Parts: sequence; C-alpha cells; structure tokens
Amino acid sequence: MLKKHYKKFKKESFPSSCVFKAELEDKFCDIVIDIDWYKIFYTRMAFISLATNKFSNCKYLEIGVANNFTYNSIPVIDKTGVDPIKGGNLRMTSDNFFKNNKKMFDVIFVDGLHTFEQCRKDIINSINFLNIGGYLFIHDLIPRNFMEEFVPQMGEPWCGDVWKVSHELNKTKNLEFFIIKANSGVGVVKKNEKNVEYFDDYINLKNLKFKDFLNKNDELNYIDPEEAINIIKKNK
Ligand SMILES: C[S@@+](CC[C@H](N)C(=O)[O-])C[C@H]1O[C@@H](n2cnc3c(N)ncnc32)[C@H](O)[C@@H]1O
Repeated sequence: MLKKHYKKFKKESFPSSCVFKAELEDKFCDIVIDIDWYKIFYTRMAFISLATNKFSNCKYLEIGVANNFTYNSIPVIDKTGVDPIKGGNLRMTSDNFFKNNKKMFDVIFVDGLHTFEQCRKDIINSINFLNIGGYLFIHDLIPRNFMEEFVPQMGEPWCGDVWKVSHELNKTKNLEFFIIKANSGVGVVKKNEKNVEYFDDYINLKNLKFKDFLNKNDELNYIDPEEAINIIKKNK
C-alpha cells in the first residue's frame, strides 16, 4: 500500500515556476508520497543482480544505460547495453535495437526514455525477446510528486509517466507482476508462458495525470524489498 505515505504539502513548498506551468496544464497536485528512498537500503541493482544469479550464463540486456551505474554492477559476462547517447555497448535507440535484434535474454532492465509511449514500446519488445522464466525490471514506477511525474521533464529525479505501464502489466495474462517499494519504484515482471499478449489500455491511460496515479494505486501490487528478495530467491 502506498496510501499510508500520502501527505499534503503547501503550494509554496514547490518552485513557483513549476506550479505555474502545472496549473496551466491542470497537473498541479499538493499531495506527495512521503518516502525517502535513501532510507530504504536496497537499489534496483540488488534485485536485478539477484535475478541474474538464477541463470547460468545469464544473458542481460539494459535499455537506457547512461553512466553505466547499473550496467557495471551486474555480475554477468554476456551483457548488452543500448543507449543513443552514452553507456553500454550499443549506441542506438531501443526501437532501432529491437528492429534488428534476434537474441533472447534472461534478464532485461528497461530504463530508457521515461514516457509512457516509449516505455510501453520497450516493454512489449522486451517481453518478446525474454526467455520463458526470464525477468524484466522497470525503473521509476513510483513518482512521489507532480514534478517527478511531469512530462516533459521539469527536474531531477524524474520518473515521467512510465507508471501507466503498471496498469497494463497488471492486467496482462501469463506473467507475474509486482512493484518494489524501493529506489523510485522497481517493477518486476516474470514471464511464465511463451504467449504473452500485452494488455492494451493506451487510450484510457494516455491523458492521466499524477492525481490519477494517486487515485489508482489501490489497484496495484506494491511490496516491500524484503518480500521481493524472498520471492525472487524462491522462484524457479
Ligand atoms: C535514467 S537514464 C538510465 C540510467 C541507468 N539505467 C542506470 O540505472 O544507471 C536514461 C537513459 O535512457 C537513454 N535513452 C533516452 N532515449 C532512449 C531511447 N529511445 N532508447 C534507449 N535509451 C534511451 C538516455 O540517453 C539515458 O542515458
């Protein structure tokens, strides 16, 4: 549950230029999720590494690599890192990578462009190139305030509106899906069957705002990092 972390903030607590822009677009919201990620002692790297350890000769793919912070910490030899600007070993967009790719992966981490449109494309492509029993991780599924969610990006940290994919994954059959309450929200997908038909709810989700993220949170499965570690460890 995320609701227990909701807190009302004063409008003056936000930078006035951001409030002005958000109000113009009806995106301002004075409720925040009051979680300090630095006080939760796990990052995405911990969960991804745990999953990669379940495979002998794990094949790892990262979409959006930047400064190699995650990429360099994954204890795997067979790594592919795709980023058009920096990091990894393939300098191209995720769309171009998937267009020509033929390789299947055991663990994939999607952390590229943080818009719903691009993220859902990356996820649909990733599921197609994920082995059965493989894991897909998605970063930044828990924006804590309207600025962290705002598209286009207004500052750092930035989650964008990738949270919307959670609602599609939650309704997609033949996979397990949960969100870990750590490190800006880490989504975990386990592919259990060959045929996964991604649940398409784009039309209903595309115009939703941070307020809707808060209102729809009850529909999703948020779990603590300790529980996630136990689940990943126990999974075959
Ligand atoms: C948040 S950073 C990635 C951080 C990294 N995964 C980590 O854990 O440290 C996002 C990266 O996505 C890259 N990016 C933006 N658009 C992309 C696209 N269309 N395909 C792949 N990567 C993209 C950016 O260049 C940026 O380096």
